Amino acid sequence: MMAQKQIVLGALDCFAPGFLAQGMWAHPADRTGDFNSLSYWTDYARLLERGLFDMLFLADTIGVYDVYGGSRDPALRLGVQVPINDPFVLIAALAGATSNLGLAATGNLLYEPPYLFARRLSTLDHLTGGRVGWNIVTGILASGARAFGRDLMGHDDRYDFGDEFMEIVYRLWEHSWEDGAVVQDRERPMFTDPDKVHQVAYAGRHLKMSGIHLTAPSPQRTPLLFQAGASGRGKQFAARHAECMFVNGTSRASLSRAVADMHRALAEQGRTPDQVRILAGLTVIVGETRAHARDKQEAFKAAASAEATLVHASGGLGIDLSRYPYDSEIEYSETDANRTLMDNLTRQPDGSRITIRQVAEKMSLSSRNMLIVGDAQTVADEMIAVVAETGIDGFNLARVLMPDSLEDFVRLVVPRLQEKGAYKAAYRSGTLREKLGLGDGARLAANHYGRHAGEEAVASI
Ligand SMILES: Cc1cc2nc3c(=O)[nH]c(=O)nc-3n(C[C@H](O)[C@H](O)[C@H](O)COP(=O)(O)O)c2cc1C
Repeated sequence: MMAQKQIVLGALDCFAPGFLAQGMWAHPADRTGDFNSLSYWTDYARLLERGLFDMLFLADTIGVYDVYGGSRDPALRLGVQVPINDPFVLIAALAGATSNLGLAATGNLLYEPPYLFARRLSTLDHLTGGRVGWNIVTGILASGARAFGRDLMGHDDRYDFGDEFMEIVYRLWEHSWEDGAVVQDRERPMFTDPDKVHQVAYAGRHLKMSGIHLTAPSPQRTPLLFQAGASGRGKQFAARHAECMFVNGTSRASLSRAVADMHRALAEQGRTPDQVRILAGLTVIVGETRAHARDKQEAFKAAASAEATLVHASGGLGIDLSRYPYDSEIEYSETDANRTLMDNLTRQPDGSRITIRQVAEKMSLSSRNMLIVGDAQTVADEMIAVVAETGIDGFNLARVLMPDSLEDFVRLVVPRLQEKGAYKAAYRSGTLREKLGLGDGARLAANHYGRHAGEEAVASI
């Protein structure tokens, strides 16, 4: 009998009260209002370790969702991903409270010099013992660009810029310091052998640098790389750089298509599906019985905010949905925001069109995630079936109500998955990359683009 595939599991969240389940912070039983307190997060991270989650993944947004109504006020009033804190600072705080959980966050590469960013990530990889991951994003909010005194760069140009950024961070992480450069020899005395530290340099259209990395090689060197771009250019970028890919799809068919697309893009880069883990966004509402779960769903729906959902969707689409009648269909238009969301909402394979009301109603709890509602058995069976049928490797689980959503999942669903042999019984040892069975030991896989980017340049400096 073939061994059951082990489901990879991440918790998808954000260092903010409002994330994907819009408006749920206002529910009387919700605790996300405590998001500024460290104990909220250490409790959360320990719960995830009890449930053997592979990682906590923190999304991030630079800018305010101010497309809806042309104003920042609805986002502020309804808590749509604002206020939002720096997720990398939180990772440093969680490093000591956890010992196995992967700690990954989104870092927008448009607004920070790669030299500083590379040092921060190396520092975190040291402090977490090699458990850090980076979701590479280029941002979609013009308000973010304006806050830096710029216009938002065009959609595909942002990925070109991203490729240049990656050239620099790979040089710093992979090639500046040789293994064994740090000798810490008290006798000589010699802390670092200067012959084993190399100047790296890069000059591109947007970015230019030369220098040595300031941080000695961390356990993974390059953090585990995540990417979620799904447009043509986004997929190309993901296929070159990502080790974990995020996909969204509300049905098995749409997830299967997303996986097939990713596999094609990987093949174009000379990579194979076993070199990446593809994770789908998932929202679960689980109860002791199916009826109990359905009751919860109805109660949550009543508590969620339709207006906040449209604030979020307008920012994602780059279209002000407040300007159209509630029952009108969303028209395709080419914006510089999230092309995949635009395609998903306007180009259904069966030709059907989605209205603004349907977006408000269908996306309020689970956004673009797959939604599973039921008792533990139903949820576990459905998760296993989705993995088997679509070719994804696992899920990124987003909360509806905190901490209930995750406590219920750990208490009810995790044991069912384990009984079925679809989920680990203990953590594997090693770095995050090793725990996921990716890479060349703790390092990027030998054929990963970043292992060799700029290698010749280093040798010739
Ligand atoms: C699971 C998931 C998480 C994401 N997290 C973030 C995030 O934290 N910050 C962000 O700006 N974009 C995030 N995105 C959006 C992607 O980075 C990207 O902008 C989006 O998929 C559109 O890319 P495309 O225009 O190439 O399709 C996320 C997407 C997915 C599917």
